[in-house]
Amino acid sequence: MKIASITLLAASLLVSEIEATCPPVTGNLFIKQNGLFPENLDWDSDNCRLYLGSLFNATAVEYNPYTNKTHIITLPSVSFDPNYHVGGIDYDFRKKVVYIGADAGAAFNTNGADLTGMNRLIRYDPRRHQILYNIEMTPFQNMVKLRNGGQLVGGFQDMAEDVFGNTYFIATFGNAIAKVTPYGSVSVFYAQNPPPTVAGYSGIFSVGNTLVIADNSISGFVTFDTSRRRAHPVVVAPQCQPSGYVFSCDGFYAPPKYHGTIGLCSNDVQGIAVYQSLDGWASSKYLGLVSNNDPAVGNGFPTATVQITDSIYISEEYFFGTPPVPDLFPLIDITAQVASLVSAGPSC
Ligand SMILES: *[C@@H]1O[C@H](CO)[C@@H](O)[C@H](O)[C@H]1NC(C)=O
Ligand SMILES: *[C@@H]1O[C@H](CO)[C@@H](O)[C@H](O)[C@H]1NC(C)=O
Repeated sequence: MKIASITLLAASLLVSEIEATCPPVTGNLFIKQNGLFPENLDWDSDNCRLYLGSLFNATAVEYNPYTNKTHIITLPSVSFDPNYHVGGIDYDFRKKVVYIGADAGAAFNTNGADLTGMNRLIRYDPRRHQILYNIEMTPFQNMVKLRNGGQLVGGFQDMAEDVFGNTYFIATFGNAIAKVTPYGSVSVFYAQNPPPTVAGYSGIFSVGNTLVIADNSISGFVTFDTSRRRAHPVVVAPQCQPSGYVFSCDGFYAPPKYHGTIGLCSNDVQGIAVYQSLDGWASSKYLGLVSNNDPAVGNGFPTATVQITDSIYISEEYFFGTPPVPDLFPLIDITAQVASLVSAGPSC
C-alpha cells in the first residue's frame, strides 16, 4: 500500500512538472515598465509569472502576461546602486524559487579590465514575495584566486540548478563556477587554471545534473557532471556551423518543451543561434539562426530567450538607453521559427 501510494505521488508530481498549468500565452508581448532594460528573464511555470532583471536599476520585475501588470522587486543593498547591474534571472522549477544575479557592471562595461566591485546572488520566493538569501560573492572570488594562480574573476551573469537545488553561478571573466546550496553556502565548483584572457562562460543551463555552458573563449560549449566528486570540464565543439559563422553567445537557454535537446544561443549581433544535442550534450549541432528582425525590435539586442507556456520569446536589451528606446519593451514570439529549424534538422 505504502509503495503504491508513493509511486502514485511520484507520478502526479512528475505530471504536474510537465503539464502546462498556465493558460497559453502566444504572440509578441509588449511590457509597459519604465526603465525595464531587461538583460535576462525566466518564466515561473508554477506561479504563471515572468521575472525580468532591470539591468541598470538593478531591480527585478514580475510581469503578469494575462493582465500586463508589472511589480518591481527592490533588492536590499543592490537596487538603484549604479555599481550593480541585474544581469541574471533563473527559475528553479523543482524548488519553485527565482534566482537573481547582481553583478558589478564595470566588468562588462570595461570588457573584463575592471573586475573590482561587488557581486551578489539572491534567492527569491515568488509566492511569498520574500528574499530567502542575498549573498556576496567576494569570499568565492578570494577562494578562486587560491586555485587559479591569483587571478580575480568577475562578470557574474547566469546560473543553473542541479536536481538537488544547488545553483551554479558563472563568472564570465576568468571562467569560474560557484556552487551555492539552497541555504546559501558557497564553494568553488570549478576555477579554470590558467583562466582565459578573454570573456568565456557567458550562459548556462542544466539538464538534470549536467551543466551546459557557452564558452566564448573557445567558441564552443563545455559541460560538467555535477554528480561527480571533482568538477571535470568536457569541451563540446559545435558541428555544422556555416563557414565564417562567428560563435558568440550572450545568453544560453534550453526551452523546456524540447526537454534539454535544444540550446538557444543569444548572439547579440546575428540573432538566436539554435543548437541541438541528441546525446545529452556529448555532441552538438547547429540548426540555424532565427534573425532578430521583427519590426518591433528597433535597435534592441537579443540578449536572452525564454519559454512562456508553450511559446518561445526573444527578450530585447537596449543598452544604456541609446535612443530610440521603445515605450513598451517587446518580447518577440519565435516559437514557429525555432520549431521549423528543429523539424528541418542539422545540415551535416
Ligand atoms: C496586454 O497587452 C497586449 C499587447 O502586448 C494586448 O494585446 C492585450 O490586450 C493587453 N491585455 C490586457 C488585459 O490589458
Ligand atoms: C527604474 O528607476 C526609475 C527611476 O527611479 C523608475 O521610474 C522606474 O520605474 C524604475 N524601473 C524599474 C524596472 O526598476
